[in-house]
Amino acid sequence: MYTSKISGLGYYVPENIVTNDDLSKVMDTNDKWIQERTGIKQRRHIKKGDGNSTSIMGAKAAKIAIERASLTTDDIELIIFATLSPDMYFPGGGVQVQEILQMKTVPALDVRNQCSGFVYAISVADQFIKTGMYKNILVIGSENHSGGLDMTTRGRGVSVIFGDGAGAAVLTRSEKEGSGILSTHLHSEGAHARELSLEGPSTGHWVPEIIEENPQENIPYYPYMNGQFVFKNAVVRFSEVINEGLQANNLTAQDIDMLIPHQANLRISQFIQKKFKLSDDQVFNNIQKYGNTTAASIPIALTEAWEQGNIKEGDLVVLAAFGSGFTWGSAIIKW
Ligand code: UT7
Repeated sequence: MYTSKISGLGYYVPENIVTNDDLSKVMDTNDKWIQERTGIKQRRHIKKGDGNSTSIMGAKAAKIAIERASLTTDDIELIIFATLSPDMYFPGGGVQVQEILQMKTVPALDVRNQCSGFVYAISVADQFIKTGMYKNILVIGSENHSGGLDMTTRGRGVSVIFGDGAGAAVLTRSEKEGSGILSTHLHSEGAHARELSLEGPSTGHWVPEIIEENPQENIPYYPYMNGQFVFKNAVVRFSEVINEGLQANNLTAQDIDMLIPHQANLRISQFIQKKFKLSDDQVFNNIQKYGNTTAASIPIALTEAWEQGNIKEGDLVVLAAFGSGFTWGSAIIKW
């Protein structure tokens, strides 16, 4: 029986720091509102000319993860790339990373599950490893949000939250029973697809059509979020899916050494922490520095937690995510 262990982690964020005060210069917002409602102090944005893109950031994070796994790109047998902000409408970011890192003609698969993208992606990787098909799989979450946000007061309810960056993990086959990824749990609820969405450009909203129909207001090629509705669903689904994972493994919240929640909002993380009666050192948050980086948020946070010595061999690590779709999921990992 094979299991998957995380053998390498890496992240990359652009150098350009955008503070809340910087945002208040271009839209009607302020540091107090952003910190009180979200916990965010700053985020990174790609700067024109800095050479970054979703796939380039993903490749940078991937390179670090592969090196830390003591592997080379030749050892990777499958690339799984999660993003909602690909460089191109098609093809996906996976093949671009393959090209940037000059990898062999291994399969490259894109996952489109927004904030749950990384959890979905490692779940897919885990299945390929468990069946014995592959030994080493590269999983990436990367986002260039700043390229598509409405940076005016009209978009402030969404634009202050999101940041750019990438995180990556290498999943490697292990034969050590009871360690590695113990289980993953995935859900979706398409009834709420439009509550957090970007409708166009798409085959449903082609660019000339959008401009004609929306000369000023309500432009569907900027992201839309029904914030309070998303918030209320998030706290319920996060709790459910963490419980589901714990129960599947006969564990309780007190067994958790490190919970890495998707960095959606510090208030959501604090709610979950309280609900599961976890101490500050059992939950990792870095939304203060990076904002919400969607598919990249869990691998960036996981990498930072590991780099800072907060995850040790034998620890029980829980990943949990909720986001657009709605989609949500958890992963229970024995490190
Ligand atoms: O990662 C995927 C999952 N995403 C989430 O889980 C996000 C969930 N939702 C949230 O985190 C919160 O709903 C937000 C942070 C997005 C918004 O916080 P909120 O407490 O729900 O605020 P709100 O949307 O109800 O807006 C309250 C007020 C409004 O003004 P009025 O109508 O009360 O006068 C907004 O217009 O705050 C105003 N507002 C702002 N003010 C200053 C909205 N955005 C801003 C802003 N700066 N950036």
